[in-house]
Amino acid sequence: ETGLITLDEGYKNTGATTSGITFLDGEEGILRYRGYSIEELAEKSTFLEVAYLLIYGELPSVKEFEQFKNEITVHTLVHEDIKKILDGFPSNAHPMGVLSSLVCTLTAFYPESLDPNRSADKVNLSIIRILAKMPTFAAWAYKNEVGHPVNYPDNSLDYCSNFLKMMFALPAEKYEADPVVADALDKLLILHADHEQNCSTSTVRIVGSSKASLYSSVSAGINALWGPLHGGANQAVIEMLEAIKADGGNVQKFIDKAKDKNDPFRLMGFGHRVYKNFDPRAKIIKKAADNVLSKLGVNDPVLEIAKGLEEAALKDPYFVERKLYPNVDFYSGIIYRAIGIPTDMFTVMFALGRLPGWIAQWKEMREKNEPIGRPRQIYTGSKIRSYVEMNKR
Ligand code: SDX
Repeated sequence: ETGLITLDEGYKNTGATTSGITFLDGEEGILRYRGYSIEELAEKSTFLEVAYLLIYGELPSVKEFEQFKNEITVHTLVHEDIKKILDGFPSNAHPMGVLSSLVCTLTAFYPESLDPNRSADKVNLSIIRILAKMPTFAAWAYKNEVGHPVNYPDNSLDYCSNFLKMMFALPAEKYEADPVVADALDKLLILHADHEQNCSTSTVRIVGSSKASLYSSVSAGINALWGPLHGGANQAVIEMLEAIKADGGNVQKFIDKAKDKNDPFRLMGFGHRVYKNFDPRAKIIKKAADNVLSKLGVNDPVLEIAKGLEEAALKDPYFVERKLYPNVDFYSGIIYRAIGIPTDMFTVMFALGRLPGWIAQWKEMREKNEPIGRPRQIYTGSKIRSYVEMNKR
């Protein structure tokens, strides 16, 4: 510590704000959105209803929910010029980069969103627009990758069925989303919807604290989520499990590798800054994985490898003493894969799920008129020194 500055790298012990949206208890493994437990919401609610709860603070009445759904439905279409932007991306472009770019172009199509002093109604229109259009952008990012024509949203379908159809429908054949798949996706999106001041949400807040638009703030959040230590972990988990499978399924070898301080390899999907007993979301997703795969008749050897890895790691002193448990990303990829989502779209699914949380946190920060985020530092560089002419250096 020097003077008034307390160094807290990674903000491990810093409260950045006060918030009434999501409550976590890392010791007890508790996660609640606006006071409702994640277990109840995953069981009884739907993703759009949870989005409403997070953003507006209360569960909607029938009338409020119908209006919310209708508002979203009429904004799912995106401007045709977006296709020109999409065409500019090579097919090997990672969908997360396409998604964050397309979200940011909303500032061009809706320049009024840049006005920091807009009325609450206009802010709400921005919220509805991004909730409605991000699934379309996500599906279009995938179509760009596989070289298929994009699909337009189908407003007769529910949120998840519409997304699945935009992802997988092809001109050559009829497509009907499997209700089991749509339901599994809806539950996964609920489980990802918010998580207090995680890296990407803190990014959305700090970008928004300069009075940048909701769209620019969410675009920044998507990029923070992309990192393998954060949302990118769900893609890294499947790549790790595939590597273990290719290597003959020897989980202990990978556990030992993760413990080796000279080896940068970490057990992806393990550990958490807050949860020091278990991640309640991982418990629900693990159960859902068994359920969805058996309903779909999918037998994925990688699920057994994941369970074996979890069992071995939870008995290993290195993991036990560091309180490392499976987190939300450990089993989610197994469900995404079983419902046909390709691996490099897993983090895009995380972003779709986290969108209502990012919106709710941005809205709360702006309504509280919080100051611009501007941390200090401890300076460790050179003392004062004079300039030397280049020919004398
Ligand atoms: C998400 O914050 C959120 O809420 C995030 C999230 C959300 O919903 O928004 O929950 C979503 O991002 C989940 C996390 C996904 N990331 C991964 O699965 C990547 C692997 N996990 C780690 O990199 C790590 O556990 C973090 C990033 C999740 C947490 O990092 P911390 O809190 O900064 O902990 P740390 O890196 O200081 O680790 C503490 C110790 C270290 O060992 P020592 O130096 O004490 O000897 O535990 C070790 C680490 O080396 N460790 C691991 C490990 N995670 C931590 N060792 C091996 N494998 C791991 N996975």
